[in-house]
Amino acid sequence: MLAELTHRCPLGCPYCSNPLRLDPKGEELDTATWQRVLGEAAALGVLHVHLSGGEPLARPDLPELVASCAKLGLYSNLITSGIGLSERRLAALADAGLDHVQLSIQDALGESADRIAGYRGAFARKREAAGLVVAAGLPLTVNAVLHRGNIERAGTLVALAVELGARRVEIAHAQYYGWALANRAALQPAAAQVRRAVAEVEQRKQAHAGRIVIDHVAPDYHARFPKACMGGWGRRSLNVTPSGKVLPCHAAETIPGLEFWSVREHAPAEIWQDSPAFNAFRGTDWMQEPCRSCARRTVDFGGCRCQAMALAGDPRATDPVCSLSPHRAKVDAALLAETGAGSMPDYVYRR
Ligand code: SF4
Ligand code: FES
Repeated sequence: MLAELTHRCPLGCPYCSNPLRLDPKGEELDTATWQRVLGEAAALGVLHVHLSGGEPLARPDLPELVASCAKLGLYSNLITSGIGLSERRLAALADAGLDHVQLSIQDALGESADRIAGYRGAFARKREAAGLVVAAGLPLTVNAVLHRGNIERAGTLVALAVELGARRVEIAHAQYYGWALANRAALQPAAAQVRRAVAEVEQRKQAHAGRIVIDHVAPDYHARFPKACMGGWGRRSLNVTPSGKVLPCHAAETIPGLEFWSVREHAPAEIWQDSPAFNAFRGTDWMQEPCRSCARRTVDFGGCRCQAMALAGDPRATDPVCSLSPHRAKVDAALLAETGAGSMPDYVYRR
């Protein structure tokens, strides 16, 4: 379960997948409601809770929520920018039973990292935060999102994660939802850049084998087949938004006509089993051709419903990044237009 505790965040990353209309602070679930939801999620069979945002450290009740996870036997992962993570706050979280920290890094060069984050001094504070996590004995994952502004340093980002003492690094190419879709023309890398980055990360995998786990999420605009988004719709994960809506994926609200239920009125188990949104694209019955008769339909589940909506205007369509999709030409046209010789547009920041 992804628990989006708040949309508030000191950073403004242009690849943020949060929606363009962010939930305001006044609409956030309170502590008692989150604690009830965590208990009901554990009863449903949830094993991992990703405490995310925005920046979850913006919530003063974070240690209480971590303690609830620990009491319920839920593995807790704090997904953070590191801004606001002092030694005292980390000690409180570790004492409450926090299991893991995932820290975002915007680039391996400080000046560029700060520009991408839209926050001066962010890079230095992230380095400090990594040091605190490692010193506290908590396992650290470094997450770096690749795009045109930093893709030439894919290998250097892996080296930085090793230097920071991370046990795992996730190198993920930007995926175009929310603010990232609004910034796509500024983020889109060229095919040659992607090939170089993939080769560099593979080379680092060999070089650092046994020292760090390197997970590399491929850029699907440059792939032949789409990703199995969310591992398949309503198959293994759920997102709870700051205001309590439960979504099958982070961008599901971009699909018109879906009815989302809230934890304010329903338990997660009821939402998981019976809500219209979770049942809309479960299994394979909803599929159109070519997915309907494709051998990969239970491998990638037709790709991403939100990407089909964004690019083809139809959430039931084959994900347009698939080479078998009748809409693939739209992806190729976007790649051509956005990675041509023209100058890179400015980022649109979240605030
Ligand atoms: Fe996947 Fe559909 Fe493409 Fe087949 S046609 S590879 S099921 S997206
Ligand atoms: Fe919604 Fe992929 S982000 S299905």
